[in-house]
Amino acid sequence: MSWMKDLSGPGEKSKPYKDESTEKVADPNIPNRMVSNKKANRPFLAYKEYRDSQEALHVAWLKKKEAHDAAVARGEKVKPLEPDPTAVQEVGLLGLLKFIVIVVFMFALAGKFLTGSYTWESNSKWLQAKTYIPKGGGQRLFSQEGLATFNGEDGRPIYLAIDGDVYDVSKGKAYQPGGSYHHFAGVDAARAFGTGCFATHKTHDLRGLTDAEYAGVQHWKQFYANHKDYVKIGKVLHPPLDYDSPIPQHCNPPKPKSPSKDAQKDSKTDHKEL
Ligand code: HEM
Repeated sequence: MSWMKDLSGPGEKSKPYKDESTEKVADPNIPNRMVSNKKANRPFLAYKEYRDSQEALHVAWLKKKEAHDAAVARGEKVKPLEPDPTAVQEVGLLGLLKFIVIVVFMFALAGKFLTGSYTWESNSKWLQAKTYIPKGGGQRLFSQEGLATFNGEDGRPIYLAIDGDVYDVSKGKAYQPGGSYHHFAGVDAARAFGTGCFATHKTHDLRGLTDAEYAGVQHWKQFYANHKDYVKIGKVLHPPLDYDSPIPQHCNPPKPKSPSKDAQKDSKTDHKEL
């Protein structure tokens, strides 16, 4: 590795390195040794200075403590002793909690700033208030007639049912009177969710659905259960099905064209099953 020893060109003899740039100061760690006060050494020198100043502060505090303890022992009335200025502050559980709250807050704020949503547009049920504050626990029981009155007319709320579960969907634009899915208001049209026969399948009767249609119903059930704006408020009680009655005929709706990207984006609706 002779090439490492001498990087100077042939003919030039390299001088051994000697730092003559700055004045020398006492090495704070090794007695009787002088070291250069050059820039690279300053952090070490400064740290030693800092440690010395801390030590001095600590010694001063110990003296105060001694005097304080002695005064207490003599039964004198003394002010409480100030804490040791050099004591390392422990983070503790409260500090950790504060840190977590701040991080979560900053994360949510960044989400609002970057995506317009505090939850980064996630619809996870763990991020929804309704998971932690269930309104009435979803325990109300509706008759079909009672449910039908909650159709958004005369300023009433809009409830819809799917396969027995009743949801308050008043926040959904599509269900308002005149909206494209107002036909779901006040009824359990579970079958229509699977078949797309919105006019003729306003029934909870799921007999004879194909696997794909049945999966469609399950998809929409999940959609309502996980939706951030819709709250489950109870169940609808259906009269028993007459199994001898004919299975509702399929309407075979002409397949509409895929919705435009804008419409899909606006609706924030998941139509994966279609
Ligand atoms: C089985 C067939 C279908 C079912 C069960 C169905 C169901 C629904 C439901 C329940 C909503 C409201 C979701 C919400 O609460 O936000 C909705 C919205 C929407 N659907 Fe469908 N849909 C079907 C087929 C289609 C098709 C084929 C199209 C394409 C033209 C379409 C376009 C839309 C649009 C644009 C919205 C948003 C409407 C708005 O927010 O005003 N849907 N759909």
